[in-house]
Amino acid sequence: MSTLLAFPSRLRREVVPQRPLALMTTMRIGGAAEFYVEARSLRDVADAVIGCRAARLPLHVLGGGSNLLIDDAGVPGLVLNLKLMKGVKPFGSKVIVGAGASLANFVATCARAGIAGPEGLAGIPGSVGGALAMNAGGRFAEIGEFVDRVLWLSPEGTIRYLYREEIQFSYRHSSLRKGVVLEAIFEGKPGKTAELLARMQGIMKQKLANQPYTAFSAGCAFTNPPGQSAGRLIDLAGCKGLSVGDAQVSTQHANFIINRGQATCSEVLDLMRLVQKRVNDLHGVQLIPEVKAWPQPMELAA
Ligand code: FAD
Ligand code: EPU
Repeated sequence: MSTLLAFPSRLRREVVPQRPLALMTTMRIGGAAEFYVEARSLRDVADAVIGCRAARLPLHVLGGGSNLLIDDAGVPGLVLNLKLMKGVKPFGSKVIVGAGASLANFVATCARAGIAGPEGLAGIPGSVGGALAMNAGGRFAEIGEFVDRVLWLSPEGTIRYLYREEIQFSYRHSSLRKGVVLEAIFEGKPGKTAELLARMQGIMKQKLANQPYTAFSAGCAFTNPPGQSAGRLIDLAGCKGLSVGDAQVSTQHANFIINRGQATCSEVLDLMRLVQKRVNDLHGVQLIPEVKAWPQPMELAA
């Protein structure tokens, strides 16, 4: 704990050592965080970032854990969870949202307030901060489309609003990932609540029909190669149902890897390598992981 002397005592008191993380992820996999803290304010986040830099402690920001694969041996350094910073307030055609708010709450609040656009993000789990870091979305919308500005803590430790045009959003990526998303203001178009809620229900129905939505997974394991569907390529390579230990390629949607109960991180990685190899052998396409591996970036070259 002496490493933590770089943190103000107010924050130090909140830090939990060796906090198990598996239940904080939708995959239900992974060991413990060396240190774990739930920030209550912008000041907590800034203190955590400054403290980590001073103590040379790696920092990981945890959202809803719905796009994460955490190493069985755990995560060295500090895992910072923003789930307590979760306010969602509509005003006119805009909404101000804390990074720790659930995306589902943001989407439903917009629909109830007659703000159209974000209903296209229905059914995506996780937090608003995580969604902005990933530019989460799909066939119906991407979150970057609705951003007015984002309160962001840069890697250098300064906090300021970034306006839409200062942020790079692309398929499942945004420049915000380099720092910490603290809060965001979104803007939509005027819409009718009943129509927006109906659209959300329609999207949700499709997801429940096509995806193993309630299984333990991190969503799609790989990004879609340009102009193609990773799920289709994996399916054509005969990988549905393929398993390593308790990790299995979903029989419903081939781009979902599910944990049937006791899967480990290394089993999931082995299965992903196997899938990559089969797809590469058959189609000559190298699939790129969408899920983020903690603490190391994935080494998955086939
Ligand atoms: P986490 O998994 O906690 O973190 C993901 C990354 O974001 C990490 O690198 C983390 O450090 C970073 N991060 C988190 N919070 C912050 C922050 N405040 N500031 C900076 N960086 C941060 N994704 C889609 O895009 N479309 C879908 O349709 C979709 N469907 C899914 C369905 C299921 C059943 C599941 C399990 C997942 C699905 N996903 C989908 C994947 C996942 O839900 C999204 O990527 C989601 O936006 C991740 O948000 P999170 O808060 O869970 O992030
Ligand atoms: N397909 C198959 N076999 C399968 C799965 C899919 O042949 O096992 C075919 C489908 O029949 C369809 C095509 O592949 O013709 C595309 O499939 P789908 O409509 O399910 O869309 P996707 O490209 O696989 C993307 C996102 C999802 C998002 C949906 C809906 C990626 C990697 N995936 O899936 O996002 O929910 O569109 O918008 O971009 C995620 O990113 O985690 C995720 C779940």
